[in-house]
Amino acid sequence: MKKQWWMETVGYQIYPRSYKDTNGDGVGDLPGIIEKLDYIARLGVNLIWICPFYKSPMDDNGYDVSDFYNVDELFGTLDDAKELIRQAHTRGIRVILDLVMNQTSDEHPWFVESRKDKVNAKRDWYIWRDGKRDKNGNRLPPNNWASFFEGSCWNYDDLTGQYYMKIFSNKMPDLNWENPELRKAMADMARWWLDLGVDGFRVDAIAHLAKETSFRDSKMKVEPGRFAPDWRKFSNRDRLFDYLAEFHDEVLTHYDCVTVGEVGGGANVEEAQRYAGFDTKGFNMVFNFDHCWKNGAFGDEGRTLGKLTTDVIDLKKTFERWILGSEGKVWMPQYWLNHDHPRVVSQYGDTEEYHRESAQMLGAVLLTLPGTPFIYNGEEIGMTNVDYTSVDDFNDVWVRNYVPSARKRISEERILTHLRRASRDNARTPMQWDDSVNAGFTTGKPHLKVVGNYKRINVRQQESDEHSVLTMYKRLIQLRLHSGMKDVLIYGKFALVQQDHPDIFAYRRFDDNSEILVIANFRDYKVNFAYEVDTYELIISNVVNFGSELLPYEFRILRAKGG
Ligand code: BGC
Repeated sequence: MKKQWWMETVGYQIYPRSYKDTNGDGVGDLPGIIEKLDYIARLGVNLIWICPFYKSPMDDNGYDVSDFYNVDELFGTLDDAKELIRQAHTRGIRVILDLVMNQTSDEHPWFVESRKDKVNAKRDWYIWRDGKRDKNGNRLPPNNWASFFEGSCWNYDDLTGQYYMKIFSNKMPDLNWENPELRKAMADMARWWLDLGVDGFRVDAIAHLAKETSFRDSKMKVEPGRFAPDWRKFSNRDRLFDYLAEFHDEVLTHYDCVTVGEVGGGANVEEAQRYAGFDTKGFNMVFNFDHCWKNGAFGDEGRTLGKLTTDVIDLKKTFERWILGSEGKVWMPQYWLNHDHPRVVSQYGDTEEYHRESAQMLGAVLLTLPGTPFIYNGEEIGMTNVDYTSVDDFNDVWVRNYVPSARKRISEERILTHLRRASRDNARTPMQWDDSVNAGFTTGKPHLKVVGNYKRINVRQQESDEHSVLTMYKRLIQLRLHSGMKDVLIYGKFALVQQDHPDIFAYRRFDDNSEILVIANFRDYKVNFAYEVDTYELIISNVVNFGSELLPYEFRILRAKGG
C-alpha cells in the first residue's frame, strides 16, 4: 500500500443549507462557510466535504441538480465557490464536493429535452419504458421494483405515455449510464470542477448507476399494492464497474484527487474492494452504512418505540468485519453519521445527563479507528436529534412521501416518535453557533427549526470551555494528525480486545514500534473492564477515574509503556 495524503486527513462534512446563513433568507450559504473557515481550521481538520450546492429546485435539498456547472442562488454564486476553495486552500484545508451521478432533477435541461418525445437526442439519456395493465385495464408501472423514497421506482409521464425510472423522488429521474454520450457528459463535468481546483469528490449513490436491464419483476414477496425493496436490481451490478473504470481512466487518474463513493447498505466488504481496492480502477474509499443502526431503530415505526439500546457486540463486530476484511486491500472512511442519519449522540450516546461524556467517547472511537475519519458538522459539539412537536416541522422529501401513507396506518404520535428518532432531518437542523436567537445561524426564519437545546449546546460556549465536547474533538484530531502517535493511529493494525464484552468497545492499534489501547464504555452506568493497568499509561480520557470500573460513557486512550 502506497501512503497517500488523503490517508492523513480528518474530514469534516458540511451541509451548506444548515451551516451558516449570511443573507438572512434562513438558508445557509457559501459565504457562511467562508466566514466559518477559521473555526474549521481551529478544529484542526484538513479536508472538507460540502454537500451539493449546484443549481437545483431543492426537492431533495440539492441532490436533484438542474445545472451541474452553477451554484444555486440560495447558496451564492460560482465566484463564492471559487473563493471558498481558494480560502480553504490557504488554510491548508482541501475541499471535496458531492458529485451526483445517478440522477438529475426533472428540471435539468437534459430531462426537459428527454421528455419531449420518444425520438429526441436526449431520450436515451434517461430510462424510459412502457407500463403494463392489470386485468381491469388499470395502468401499472413497468415492474414491481420499489423506490428508496416510498412507492414505485417508476413515474408515469403523460407527455409520451411512458414511465421514467427514478429510484429516489419523482423529481429525480435516473440517468442511463449505458449511453456513452451521457457518460462523456458526466466525465466532462467532473473534470471541470477538478480544473476549478477542487480536491476530489464524495460520489453520491454510486452503487446504483447500473440497473438489471431486463427490468423483469422482482420475485421478492410483497403485500398487494406494495413494491419490492429488491435493491440488488439496481445496486452493485457487474456493469457498474465498467463505468467506474472508464470514469477512472477518463477523469480521476489525471488528478491528484481523492474520491469517496457512497455505497450505502447494499455493498459488503468484498464488494467494497471492487469499488476501491488498492489495485482497482475505481475510487479511493467507499462509505457503507453497516454500523449506523446498531440500536435497532432502523426500518418500520415499531422499532423506534420504547428505549433504544446499543448492541455493542454487534457494533464492534461490524467494525471488525469491515476493518479486518479491508486490511491491506482497501482504505476505509470512518464516520458516525452524515446528513442521511440521526445524530450519533442520540443514537448511541446520551443527550442529557451524560451528554458531554458520551459525545466525547464517540469522538474518541471515531478518531482512533483505522481509515480516514469524517466528522459531520455539529457532531463536534454533540448536536442532538430534533425535539419537534409536530410532524409538519419536518421537511425531508422522504418524510413528505412517507407521512401520507403512515397516517393511514398509525397515529400521529407514533409517526412523530418515529421521525424524531429516524428521520434524516435530525442531522439537518441549523448549526448551533451560540445562544442567541436561532442559535446564531440566521437572522431570518430558519428553513428548519433549531433544536431547543441550543442554549446548552453551542459552539461559543464550548470554544471557551476546556472540558467541552469541542475541545475534546480538537485534542483528538491533534493526537491523530500531529502527535507522536500519528503513525500508529493512521496506519497501525487493529484488534478487538474482549470482543464479547457486552458494554465496552475496546481495541488495540499497533505497529512494530508502539501500541495504543482504546477503551470505551457505551453504557450510562458503571462497567467493569479488567486490563493490565500497569503496562499502559493514560494519554487522554474524558473523566478523572483511576479505578478498573469505567464510569458512564468513560473512554480511555492508553499507550503501552515503552512503546
Ligand atoms: C444522499 C441522499 C440523497 C440520495 C439521492 C444519497 O445517497 O446522501 O441525501 O437523498 O443519495 O441523491
